[in-house]
Amino acid sequence: MSKKIFSGVQPTGNLHLGNYLGAIKNFVELNNQKDNECIFCVVDLHAITTKQEPKELKKNIRETAATFIASGIDPKKSIIFNQSMVPAHSEGAWILSCVSRIGWLNRMTQFKEKAGKDKEKASIGLYSYPVLMAADILLYDATHVPVGDDQKQHLELCRDIAQKFNNDFNAPGFLRFPEPLIQKEFSRIMSLKDGLKKMSKSDPSDLSRINLTDDKEQILNKIKKAKTDPLPMPSESNNLSQRPEVENLLGIYSSLVNQNLEKSMYEFDGKNFSEFKEKLSEILIEKIEPISKEIKKLLNDEKYLDGILLEGSQKADKIASKKIREIKELVGF
Ligand code: TYM
Repeated sequence: MSKKIFSGVQPTGNLHLGNYLGAIKNFVELNNQKDNECIFCVVDLHAITTKQEPKELKKNIRETAATFIASGIDPKKSIIFNQSMVPAHSEGAWILSCVSRIGWLNRMTQFKEKAGKDKEKASIGLYSYPVLMAADILLYDATHVPVGDDQKQHLELCRDIAQKFNNDFNAPGFLRFPEPLIQKEFSRIMSLKDGLKKMSKSDPSDLSRINLTDDKEQILNKIKKAKTDPLPMPSESNNLSQRPEVENLLGIYSSLVNQNLEKSMYEFDGKNFSEFKEKLSEILIEKIEPISKEIKKLLNDEKYLDGILLEGSQKADKIASKKIREIKELVGF
């Protein structure tokens, strides 16, 4: 069955191994499957829910598009565009925010994490961010949405919003319920410094993550400094959850070589950490360094990247503007 795929990545800089293994690697596989229609969006409207420096934002929009292409998404086969170029996203988000309930948004754990203690000072955009995300997906009748584990709750909310819109406007089946595509294993990559914290763009320590623009030396250094524990390499998964850093590093290795955790444990059983780290760095360099080099090369050609985004947004606009017209008609505008 052919799938309609939609997913997005925020252009907030420091795209990292978590973004790659949790989402972008999956985008590439979906792009390569014959019958899929894929749309990959640089979600710049989402980015401004926290303060962005305009010049940096412009650079990061291009860098995110470059990361998609450098990772293997073919812009001739998939649509790559940035959200702010297609007005239907903002319009859709407003209309859907009028069917969404405050109680639903109050349950969103990501808002609580991002807003932190001082949630009165968070932007309204940060709070209603999942409604914009729902608009992104529903405008394209996406059937499948590949994301990392942290976006699961937002996708459940998207289905609730679609259902309420369809009920309120007596339009059964009009907004299509999307299926999340979350990998069974390794869908949450953790910080290299703290196995209980998600690897994140906003972690102040650059040593906590492998950036997709890191070079060989940086990768080697970060893996060398990655936290482990004094115990030997584990031979079974029983008490691995009590060793989150080790579990995470083994998970990263397994995901990169496409094998399950058990197999990786068997491979390193009885060996010491330095040997494991050496292998891990090797595979990381093999997979990430070519992407990093290609991103840098593409960034030198702003005209090319802007052309891809323009062409992509024209294609996306055709689809989204039709859907938003139908939405407006149902609402009574
Ligand atoms: P964003 O930009 O935070 O992250 C982009 C993708 O990377 C995944 N990810 C991770 N996966 C595993 N381990 C990690 N440590 C990790 N960190 C990030 C995220 O799950 C995501 O898939 N709201 C979204 C962007 C968005 C979107 C959409 C996604 C906007 N509209 C519509 C899908 C459909 C976000 O902030 O992702």
